[in-house]
Amino acid sequence: MVLQADRRQHVMKAIRTFEEFRDALHAYRLPRVMIAALELNVFTTLDRRTWALPDLARELKVSERGLRILCRTLATAGLLVKSGNRYRNGPLGATGLNANHPSFHGAYLELLRNHWHSWSRVTESVRTGLPLDRDHSDEPDYRRQFTWAMHHRTLEIAPKIAAHLSLKGAGSLLDLGGGPGTYALAFLAKNRGLHATVCDRPAALDVAREIAATHTAGKRLSFIPLDLLSDEIPGTYDVIWYSNVLHIYSPEENRTVFRKAKAALSPGGRLIIQDAFLHDPQGIYPVDASLFAVSMLLFTETGDTYSVKDVTAWLANEGFTAIRSLRMKKENEDWEGGILEARNAAVPVRRRRRPSR
Ligand SMILES: C[S@@+](CC[C@H](N)C(=O)[O-])C[C@H]1O[C@@H](n2cnc3c(N)ncnc32)[C@H](O)[C@@H]1O
Repeated sequence: MVLQADRRQHVMKAIRTFEEFRDALHAYRLPRVMIAALELNVFTTLDRRTWALPDLARELKVSERGLRILCRTLATAGLLVKSGNRYRNGPLGATGLNANHPSFHGAYLELLRNHWHSWSRVTESVRTGLPLDRDHSDEPDYRRQFTWAMHHRTLEIAPKIAAHLSLKGAGSLLDLGGGPGTYALAFLAKNRGLHATVCDRPAALDVAREIAATHTAGKRLSFIPLDLLSDEIPGTYDVIWYSNVLHIYSPEENRTVFRKAKAALSPGGRLIIQDAFLHDPQGIYPVDASLFAVSMLLFTETGDTYSVKDVTAWLANEGFTAIRSLRMKKENEDWEGGILEARNAAVPVRRRRRPSR
C-alpha cells in the first residue's frame, strides 16, 4: 500500500492495525528519496534532455547502481519518465524542480530539505516545549533566505486568492508581516485602483523591494520596516491582510496585533486573516493544520495553530464585528477554510452597560 501525503486531506484514515501503523511509518521513504534527488541535483541535471543512466551517473558523480534504484523510485511517483535504461524529467521535474527553469521553487525546496533534519528531532522539542535552535528571526541572512522561500511557496496560490477575494471599494491595503509581498503584489495586479504597503523586518523588505521592482504593479507598493509586536502600525488602511503570521505567536501576542490592526483600520475597514485554522469542535482537523503546529513547536517560542472559534472570540473581544470565514474553492486556498474576515465597525460599537439591579 502506498500512502500518498495529501495536504488537502481533511480527516486522516484512522490507524487501527499494526499493518496500517507500519504503512503510515513507511511514508517517509518516498520523501527521503525525493530529498536525495534534490541533494544530487537530479532534476536540474536532467533538464530538458533524455539521459542514458551511465551518462547521468557520470555527470552526477554517483554510482550507477544507486542512481538506477533512485531514478526507478522517482519514476513510480511520476517525477521522472523511464524508457528502458533512459530517463527524462516529468512535467514538474522539468519546471518547478529545475534550477534552469523560471518557475524553479529553489528557496522553498531548500527550506523543505532543512525541515527534514528538524523534523527528525521532534522528540527533543516535545520534551522541552521549546524550539530546537536559538531564535534566528532577526538575522538578515536567515530572514533573506526565508523570505525568498515564502515567495516561492506562494507564487502560484497568491494570484488565485487575489482573483477570488473581493477588495471592492478598498483604496489601501496593508500586508502585515507580508514578507516578500507576494500577496500584496497579487492584490495590486488584480485591483488597479489599490495602493498597498508591506510591513515586515528590514531584511524581508529588501527581498520584497527586489521582487516588486520586477512587477509593473510594484509601483503601487510601499514598504514599512517594523516589529509588529513592539511597534505601532503607522497609517490608516481599508484592508489589513495578516497572512501566515497568526501561527507564529501565542493567543495573547495575536490579540496585541489585533488591537494595533484595529487602530490602523479605517471605519468599516477589514482585517483579513489567512492561516491554518482548525475547524472541528475538538480542534484537531484538518490534518494539515494539526501537523503544521508541530512545525511551530520546532521553530517558534509560542506558536501554534488555532481554531476558527477561538480566533473569532479574540477578535470579538478586541471590538471587531461581522466576523466570518470566507469560503473559497479548494484549488483557490492556501489552507483549507483558511480565511477569516473581521470588520472595524463604521460607527464605534458601544460596550453595553450592565443593567443596575
Ligand atoms: C510565514 S511568513 C508569511 C509571509 C506572508 N505573509 C505569506 O503569507 O506568505 C511570516 C512573516 O511574518 C513576519 N514577522 C513575524 N514576526 C514579525 C515581527 N515581530 N515583526 C515583523 N514581521 C514579523 C516574518 O518576518 C515573515 O515575513
